[in-house]
Parts: sequence; C-alpha cells; structure tokens
Amino acid sequence: MPIVRGKTIEPLFTAETIAARNIELATEIAKGPSDDLLVISVLKGSFVFAADLIRALHHAGLAPEVEFITLSSYGAGTVSRGVKIIKDIDSDVKGRNILLIDDILESGRTLKFARDLMYERGAAHVSIAVLLDKKVKRQEDFEADHVGFECPDYFVVGYGMDVAYAFRELPFVGVVTGDAA
Ligand code: IMP
Ligand code: MG
Repeated sequence: MPIVRGKTIEPLFTAETIAARNIELATEIAKGPSDDLLVISVLKGSFVFAADLIRALHHAGLAPEVEFITLSSYGAGTVSRGVKIIKDIDSDVKGRNILLIDDILESGRTLKFARDLMYERGAAHVSIAVLLDKKVKRQEDFEADHVGFECPDYFVVGYGMDVAYAFRELPFVGVVTGDAA
C-alpha cells in the first residue's frame, strides 16, 4: 500500500481506472449539447480531473474553451450554509453551452449554486461532470449529468483532492487509512 507523508493510503480508484473512465465520459459529453463548449473547472479540487478530461474531450472531437471558478462553502450550521464566489470566470456565458467540472458531488450545494449562476447569466445549456458522486451525502434535489464513479462514504484524497492541503499530487484516488508502521 502506498505510503505518503508517513500515512498509508489505500487506493480506491487507480490512475488506470480513472483514465479509462475519462475516455468514456468524454464520449458521453460529446453526444450532448457541446457546440462552442465552455468548460468551467470548479477550483481547487477539480483541476487534475479537468486537465485530463479536456484532453479526453479533444480525442472525442471537441475543442472547448476553458475557464476556472473558485467557490467556497460558508457557515457551519445545517440551515445557514451557503456558497460564495472567491474568484469568478472572465468569460460571458450568454448563449453558451457550459460544462461544469468538479471533483466530488456531495450535498449538491456547490454545483447547484454554480449551475443556477450560469443560467441566471444567460447560458444556453449547463451540464455537470463530476469524478465522484457521494449520493448518501445529498442535501439538494440535484444530480450530475456525467459521473465518473459512485463513491463510498469515505473521505478521499488524491487526483486533485486534499485533506488539510495535502495529497493533491497523488495520481490515484485513495483513503487515508492510518500511520505507516
Ligand atoms: P458539496 O456537493 O457542495 O457538498 O461539495 C462537495 C465539495 O466538498 C467537493 O467539491 C470537495 O471540494 C469537497 N469534498 C467533499 N468530500 C470530499 C472528500 O472526500 N475529499 C476531499 N474533498 C471533499
Ligand atoms: Mg470542490
């Protein structure tokens, strides 16, 4: 089992499994509304997935524009939680086909906020691609259009995802299982 920063990490989705799934996702995405596509990667967690998925989109025949938005949840209570924009995109989304890319869909708050925002700004169509879907954590009536994998209810790291700013560089998705002996 890989040991990183003195912790053992149990792989959940290997680099090879993710790469193969990205090709399938890109094929799916290319079949949907994808003319003049604007991809928006939701930072920070999705940057590795987005980097791989846009190259898979190239192989699926698409030539997307790429943007980044940094979103953050605020509020610790269950009622008052919200999402705010830390850094916005630069492009005008009016009349555009948008693909929002994120690492994990959990409560659904982040991506519901982002999708509503793009429609308020006049996007023609917004679809959602996530690497992982933690369905048991859902708080909103919200689903992604393209899901890499159903994710068990573990806190996962790697492939862009962190715990306390660590492990984003791992080429696979895994679970921190303990201290290395
Ligand atoms: P939600 O759908 O608004 O609850 O947002 C889910 C976001 O929380 C994801 O985009 C991640 O940034 C973060 N997140 C949730 N679960 C995990 C995890 O297991 N590992 C790392 N980040 C996570
Ligand atoms: Mg995120």
